[in-house]
Amino acid sequence: MSDVYPVNFRHCIFALLFFTYIMNELIFATNNPDKLREIQDLLGDSFKLNCLKDIDFSEDIPETGDTLEINASYKANFIYRIFNRDVFADDTGLEIDALDGKPGVHSARYAGPEKNSAANIKRVIHELRYARNRKARFRTVISLIINGKEYSFEGIVKGTILKTLHGQKGFGYDPVFQPSGHTQTFAEMELKQKNLISHRAIAFKKLVGFLKKGIY
Ligand code: IMP
Repeated sequence: MSDVYPVNFRHCIFALLFFTYIMNELIFATNNPDKLREIQDLLGDSFKLNCLKDIDFSEDIPETGDTLEINASYKANFIYRIFNRDVFADDTGLEIDALDGKPGVHSARYAGPEKNSAANIKRVIHELRYARNRKARFRTVISLIINGKEYSFEGIVKGTILKTLHGQKGFGYDPVFQPSGHTQTFAEMELKQKNLISHRAIAFKKLVGFLKKGIY
């Protein structure tokens, strides 16, 4: 038995090293551990994801573009230029019909630079106080740079902005956003349920489908 065990063990080590060698690596230009876990879960073992912390990058990447597309692309290119490695970045915004698509790209800082979600929601509720049309959508854009070429993926979920807050879960505008076809806001849903239908999950699934096809 003692002769067999070391051979099997060596095989395992060899297989592990070989797998690590052929396994593709991707940088996700984020330091948000929830997002990282979410997409690693969707990707499975075919790609190993590294976040900015994993590559010892601690600077803030500016998000000063006028569109989600520009910001996602800027972030991905910023990292690509420094590290010359395959990378993707995302940007999300809440687009409200009655506010001509605002807060959109300014969603995080709608009520000020503090990125305060309660204040952001308060401002949105105030601005919609006379609105009959309360339709809105969350939109996520992902920019991927792989083998030196850039690709873009979009995820949208439509819904309604409620007049009052409902639910404690989630983050950002979740307590006032009720996705179409549902009776709960995102903040009333379990994370698993939100992740089945969310803008981010839709965009990520498109990215994962593209990566799994391997035609890039
Ligand atoms: P980010 O691009 O993912 O950082 O998102 C920008 C801002 O959009 C966040 O700071 C939130 O205010 C808002 N946001 C993004 N995703 C969600 C979500 O799933 N629910 C609620 N708000 C969100």
